[in-house]
Amino acid sequence: PSFQSQLKNGLSKLGLPKEIVEFIVNVTGGSGNYLKIPEAKGSIGAIRNEPFFVPLYELYLTYGGIFRLTFGPKAFLIVSDPSIAKHILKDNQKSYSKGILAEILEFVMGKGLIPADGEIWRVRRRAIVPALHQKFVAAMFSLFGDATDRLCKKLDAAASDGEDVEMESLFSRLTLDIIGKAVFNYDFDSLSVDTGIVEAVYTVLREAEDRSVAPIPVWEIPIWKDISPKLRKVNAALKLVNDTLDDLIAICKKMVEEEELQFHEEYMNERDPSILHFLLASGDDVSSKQLRDDLMTMLIAGHETSAAVLTWTFYLLSQEPSVMAKLQNEVDSVLGDRFPTVEDMKKLKYAARVINESLRLYPQPPVLIRRSLGDDMLGKYPIKKDEDIFISVWNLHRSPHHWEEADKFNPERWPLDGPNPNETNQNFSYLPFGGGPRKCVGDMFATFETVVAVAMLVRRFDFQLAIGAPPVKMTTGATIHTTEGLKMTVTRRQRAPVIPNLEVSTLNVDSSPNIQEADQI
Ligand code: HEM
Repeated sequence: PSFQSQLKNGLSKLGLPKEIVEFIVNVTGGSGNYLKIPEAKGSIGAIRNEPFFVPLYELYLTYGGIFRLTFGPKAFLIVSDPSIAKHILKDNQKSYSKGILAEILEFVMGKGLIPADGEIWRVRRRAIVPALHQKFVAAMFSLFGDATDRLCKKLDAAASDGEDVEMESLFSRLTLDIIGKAVFNYDFDSLSVDTGIVEAVYTVLREAEDRSVAPIPVWEIPIWKDISPKLRKVNAALKLVNDTLDDLIAICKKMVEEEELQFHEEYMNERDPSILHFLLASGDDVSSKQLRDDLMTMLIAGHETSAAVLTWTFYLLSQEPSVMAKLQNEVDSVLGDRFPTVEDMKKLKYAARVINESLRLYPQPPVLIRRSLGDDMLGKYPIKKDEDIFISVWNLHRSPHHWEEADKFNPERWPLDGPNPNETNQNFSYLPFGGGPRKCVGDMFATFETVVAVAMLVRRFDFQLAIGAPPVKMTTGATIHTTEGLKMTVTRRQRAPVIPNLEVSTLNVDSSPNIQEADQI
């Protein structure tokens, strides 16, 4: 037993009141085996009006890789140290749950894979991971290509009309269309039309985000639930989305019953390669409520995250024309005007680094949330059961201790012939998709989806921040949004064609047919 626990026992036996025992044990803490976690008190006024992870960065520079932040009755441990993050997410992950996150998301995700803990999580993770097999991801390329092509057509029209476009909402629609088809074979078609279901999805999403940053859980107040017009609207939207999901499950069940395909490891129905179809065909023994919770979880997890990555990538590209030029060069030479395929992913190396670097500067989500299930040691500090913990991925990714020129968008920091950066080869200083057993199940899917979208868009267009557009500032829900959108001027690229053979190219580099060809793309 430690010095501390011996002292505690001894004092308790003397019959001293518990509070006094605790006080003496705490006061002697510094000289015993245990240290006390630095307290960042009184510095939280700054948290208003800014996304909360920004002031946490300043506090990290002052207090270090772990500190406690108290507001009123609530206290949080803020972790920005890679080895402590690794301990919580991987080495001792069994001792941590999703805590507040599960409480906040209950209303929409129920016991879906993101909020679930313990046995439910284990069973569902085992059922869902196999659905995202390689053949499935490869089959998604035509979906990524078709959806991005629809976005290109929209941008093409805007370019012709000389109208600026708000890219953040377009990216949100692009990724909604993709994830709906991928997860449950539903075509939201939100890039083309605004249906009730699309609006309902956004109402539910916004509510989830509002709750993530709300200081008081008003939605738990019994009378409020019934009289608040906002909550009534949310509940109606939730019902519509849930009913739609139930219908899709029923339709898919029928398809599975009627088909003759044998289930195997890389099973996939060509007509409907969705994750839902895989789960039903696998004979997954699951209640329809649980299945619906998992589908809703994947819809949300795979939608706003990818949209936010695209939004910040295009913002960053607009700030660094040299990166954009290099990216466009790579895309021109690898793809020409083909849609990208899974084989191209090995060649679009710089495009992948652009996404890696965008995820470093704007991690989605910027913090990971956990709660301790028992006493534990974090580095040299003891912690108790029920501590709420924020692992600040934002701080890890911008730490001056781990990165040279941490705030600079510099895809070159990872050599093209080196490994794809991930939490393992970067020792938990880089966590774009989390780490340990609860790492993102959609990491490959999302990487390919965003690389395809970026490649197809920069192949056809140049992007500039629109003149007179509001400054691009951050605000946060679950992911990092802009405060007033990402308004861009999109122009068709006027470029030399890809010339298949060198002899021709020496003769005819500047000839005018090139421009016509570029226009048709
Ligand atoms: C978990 C990021 C796309 C499904 C996570 C986590 C991160 C993350 C950081 C870990 C959360 C934690 O430990 O608390 C991202 C990013 C994406 C993306 C940045 C896009 C660029 C997707 C997609 C899907 C998906 C497309 C669905 C196909 C999930 C699920 C989990 C998860 C189900 C929970 C896994 C578990 O707890 O076992 N994601 N994600 N994500 N993600 Fe993603």
